[in-house]
Amino acid sequence: MSSRPQSQHIFDQMNQHIPGGVNSPVRSCKSMGQVPLVADHAYRDTVVDVDGNAYIDFCCSWGALIHGHAHPTILQAVQARMHKGTSFGITTAIEGELAREMIQLVDSVEKLRFVSSGTEATMSAARLARGFTRRDTIVKFSGNYHGHADFFLVQAGSGLIELSPTASSAGIPADIVKHTVCLPYNDCQALKELFSHPSYRDCIAAVIIEPVAANMGVVPASREFMLLLRELTAKAKTLLIFDEVITGFRVGKGGAQELYPVTPDLFCFGKIIGAGFPVAAFGGRGDVMDYLAPLGPVYQAGTLSGNPVAMEAGLQSLRLLQQPQFYEELERKTSLLLDPIEEVIVKHGWNVCIQRKGSMFTLFLGTKAVRNMEDALKIDVEGYGRLFRILFSQGIYIPPSAHEAWFISAAHEDGHLVQTREAVLSFLEENFSNSI
Ligand SMILES: Cc1ncc(COP(=O)(O)O)c(C=O)c1O
Repeated sequence: MSSRPQSQHIFDQMNQHIPGGVNSPVRSCKSMGQVPLVADHAYRDTVVDVDGNAYIDFCCSWGALIHGHAHPTILQAVQARMHKGTSFGITTAIEGELAREMIQLVDSVEKLRFVSSGTEATMSAARLARGFTRRDTIVKFSGNYHGHADFFLVQAGSGLIELSPTASSAGIPADIVKHTVCLPYNDCQALKELFSHPSYRDCIAAVIIEPVAANMGVVPASREFMLLLRELTAKAKTLLIFDEVITGFRVGKGGAQELYPVTPDLFCFGKIIGAGFPVAAFGGRGDVMDYLAPLGPVYQAGTLSGNPVAMEAGLQSLRLLQQPQFYEELERKTSLLLDPIEEVIVKHGWNVCIQRKGSMFTLFLGTKAVRNMEDALKIDVEGYGRLFRILFSQGIYIPPSAHEAWFISAAHEDGHLVQTREAVLSFLEENFSNSI
């Protein structure tokens, strides 16, 4: 293990002033059993910590950095933009430019509004759906994450609809929880039951879904499930919201819509549209979006919404990913890393699997498939902790949780992908070759 005295010292100090020493819990690496990575700087696919150790980065700011760290085009444009002023709280033309770029890329987004985080985007989309439909209930799926608004931090109770959902965090009143229904992912029967249930079918404002779930590890929704979801929501006049905070511009230029023949009413975006700056957006049908103030009765606002420096980063990010062969090259890199690992897993029948969509994937240990949260809870979390620590000691940084996606950026070097592939293969050989 590399020496990390400075990281330890800084983390100890931060623990005195910031709860748990971090500003977002999973960063603490608590479940990985070690002091977190304390970053000093980064370039391309590499993060360097405050002790001078370099790590190949597969976290990529939780998927935001599809172009890698410190991309020169983005940096230059952002620097130039900053010289014109960093924030106005007044309209700037670049907000319209980024909106147009997104609308041109994602078919069926007619209008959108920018916010500063994925949490704000999903929370605002849900309020808009409630205002538009004049209904209260929001439906979500176990293992999907939509940020930390109160009504999303809800987990299923026992049974399908006789649910009694519970809050997954302290501090959330029961009166709020009762307006959220949480169903199992990829479960057509549960959907049908809900939409035919007399207490629910006429009061569901919206169903929100990660079309490819990335927050229980990567778990794509089945085509059958998505088609049924669209059919039932349309029939019930319930709005369908795609939470594409991770999948947007990651699984393809047009997002998850390219993967399923399904058009949602509203979308939420984040991460890649800010290229590492705090930008997110929600958008979709024009008639629904026009329910927002100042046109309509649904209030939503933000001092830094559409911040021009962040918009500039987003605009450059979206332009870069429209270069020829961008997604093909990401696919090639992902295959370079994963194909040989998958071949060995299949050849030996090890109890391990890789689930991937485009350049995001999860290596699940201790299982051959994950379709929903129930499956995800059975994976070998301790084994993942060992993998994390071994790779970390070799200068490879993977997400510090077994239930997250790994990301590959356009800046990942082939040599680094091969190095990681060999390290993962040797870990699997040593730890899982008897697991069939
Ligand atoms: C699918 C999804 N939606 C919403 C969010 C919340 O975004 P943020 O962390 O920017 O608030 C996340 C965060 O990872 C996410 O993965």
